[in-house]
Amino acid sequence: MKRTVTSPPSIIGTLTPPGDKSISHRSTILNAMATGEATVTNYSPGADCASTIRCLRALGATIERLEEPGSYLVKGVGAGGFREPAEVLNAGNSGTTMRLMSGLLAGQPFLSVMTGDSSLRSRPMGRILSPLSLMGAHVHGRDGDERAPLVIKGGNLHGIPYTLPVASAQLKSCLVIAGLYAKGETSLHSPAASRDHTELMLRMMGAQILEDGLTVTVRPGNPLSAMDVRVPADISSAAYWLVAGVCHPNAKVTVTDVGINPTRTGIIDALQAMGAKLTIANRRMEGGEEVGDITAESSELRGVEIGGDLIPRLLDEGPILALAACFARGATVIKDAAELRVKESDRIKSSTQELSRFGADIQERPDGMVIRGKGGLRGAVGQSHGDHRMAMTLGVAGLLAKGQTEVRNPEIASISYPGFWTDLERLAGSM
Ligand code: S3P
Repeated sequence: MKRTVTSPPSIIGTLTPPGDKSISHRSTILNAMATGEATVTNYSPGADCASTIRCLRALGATIERLEEPGSYLVKGVGAGGFREPAEVLNAGNSGTTMRLMSGLLAGQPFLSVMTGDSSLRSRPMGRILSPLSLMGAHVHGRDGDERAPLVIKGGNLHGIPYTLPVASAQLKSCLVIAGLYAKGETSLHSPAASRDHTELMLRMMGAQILEDGLTVTVRPGNPLSAMDVRVPADISSAAYWLVAGVCHPNAKVTVTDVGINPTRTGIIDALQAMGAKLTIANRRMEGGEEVGDITAESSELRGVEIGGDLIPRLLDEGPILALAACFARGATVIKDAAELRVKESDRIKSSTQELSRFGADIQERPDGMVIRGKGGLRGAVGQSHGDHRMAMTLGVAGLLAKGQTEVRNPEIASISYPGFWTDLERLAGSM
């Protein structure tokens, strides 16, 4: 399939992106582990979060779809309630499903096999398998225990002190979940802060999760109580419209009800450092997470250096940030971002390749990209690289570039944002 996009004279409108992917995964996994029943609303409609529900059901959890779209009733299985899956668990394209579920499975006294699509089977899993085996689980994977399919025989875990080699929330969450099934304390030290939705939700469910700077300690033993979750809109999905708003010369876009947990708002900080006119209104707390409405207006951007602790706070926004940098005056350097290479595609390579087709001056670096803004782009034919975030970045490039853009394999956007192309058309038509 392909999608054709051209730049509209103005981009003016308000919309609410879909439910946050990270919080959605956690809302079903953690409630399935708990005791009691909980309702989850505004669950991400993307294929990734459907993969999580499928895996949990295969383990015996009851997750009923309710009448309101995106609403589910999750019945927790409580301690010892999961059962050995009869089939291979399939995480599809979802790294979060595979890594968080591995932590859960490592705590179960039975055998599980988990696989995924070709992209997921190529991504690094040694980072979860090594600490899980230090905790006492029997875990194996292809390629010298580095890649899925994974085989996990869990149970009898013991807590460990562990220093994470990367600031990965999936790894941290995997080990926090395994730590809840372990004997003794698990203490996890991260090199930088990463999203903390697991810690926030678990604490509200009654778990003892202590935080001291970059160290998270799990003290198992407290029972988990199921907790209703209203999932906020996904800031990683909102980011496409924010960049469209600041880069288009005649734009004002508001995204509402967006999760603005500070571990996720790196894209706002980076764009503001570039001179973007972004404002947050109506800030409020919902279910332990901060939420707000963000407005983006046409802005004059300048190039900046983006690296260090900011990177884990905007990790999924690498490609769309690179696009914004094409519209800035001067050079933007994205560094310390080698993790971009092990996402759904190698996002350093795919962003460089694709934006070059649009006439961008963009160079690949081992840990990032250097982009010299030329004030604009020209339409091109872009390939999605089987990566939802690349497809959506190319869609926004089409809204900003002169001439016509064609996005190949646009349907991959439905991994996180099935309504993306409809929302793009609405915004381009200036609702
Ligand atoms: C996620 C963590 C990040 C992010 C991913 C979702 C999560 O991955 O890129 O899209 O929900 O924990 P890493 O943990 O690999 O950095």
